[in-house]
Amino acid sequence: MTARKIIIDTDPGQDDAVAILLALASPEELEVLGITCVAGNVPLDLTTRNARIVCELANRPDMKIFAGCDRPLGRDLVTAEHVHGKTGLDGPVLPEPTMPLQDQHAVDYLIETLRAEPSGTVTLCPLGPLTNIAAALQRAPEIAGKIEQIVLMGGAYFEVGNITPTAEFNIYVDPEAARIVFGSGVPIVVLPLDATHKALVTTPRNDAFRALGTPVGTAVAAMTDFFERFDLAKYGSEGAPLHDPCVTAYLIAPHLFSGRHINVEIECDSALCRGMTVADWWGVTDRKPNALFIGDLDADHFFALLTDRLARLR
Ligand code: RIB
Ligand code: CA
Repeated sequence: MTARKIIIDTDPGQDDAVAILLALASPEELEVLGITCVAGNVPLDLTTRNARIVCELANRPDMKIFAGCDRPLGRDLVTAEHVHGKTGLDGPVLPEPTMPLQDQHAVDYLIETLRAEPSGTVTLCPLGPLTNIAAALQRAPEIAGKIEQIVLMGGAYFEVGNITPTAEFNIYVDPEAARIVFGSGVPIVVLPLDATHKALVTTPRNDAFRALGTPVGTAVAAMTDFFERFDLAKYGSEGAPLHDPCVTAYLIAPHLFSGRHINVEIECDSALCRGMTVADWWGVTDRKPNALFIGDLDADHFFALLTDRLARLR
């Protein structure tokens, strides 16, 4: 089986970091062409720093990492230091990166790569606000027909919001970008909070990361120890939801996930419901389905896969 070519678009973020590590640990299934960074959890200068820290942790200083948009298409940036800490990667003590950032802008890289690769052979994996993806689609509309699939973490329906009562953070930060992506006609798979809130890093699961006894296992356990405090206080759950690795795991083992092909529209005009993913889960409208909206996952096998793959990174 040839590895699937992907570009990860990300705002690390501890959970983004684990998603990137899982991808880099799975070369049989995934060929990471590049990593494009966007402002989100923390400002762009920190998301580009954190992406390089994670790639060096995985012994991949060769990875091409690009800086993208430093703010949403038409709104002020909203960040999430209250969840991820001042640096966005609080928890583990990791060295400052020495690997270079690419000179090319992430949006130019996305367009150039999608134009150069055979049509339908590159999957985009957004893990943060959709600003870079939307900017590329606006600048070069023809790339929509060349993207194999967009597999993204974002949105919510039954789980409602995490940054407001109605919106999930990635969509909330740049709803206009999300509306462009969901209206692009590109095949989309959505990993919303409905799924990711079932991927809880319980104590035994985090202990399994730590028990790997490797720099990666120790760092991942420390990342979870840090960012789970917010979710435990908020939800009283038995662990933090591991949002973004659900995207990578879906690409590796889609059979662990289930959902419905439905219509998803993005609320951009309401101050109260900005960034809400209006998911027609029950098919009550005649709106055209535009996304596979994931509602459930096999959490035990998800964590077994994740732990097994992280063990490969030494
Ligand atoms: O709402 C969760 C999402 O927002 C995750 O991608 C997390 O990293 C933040 O970007
Ligand atoms: Ca993210």
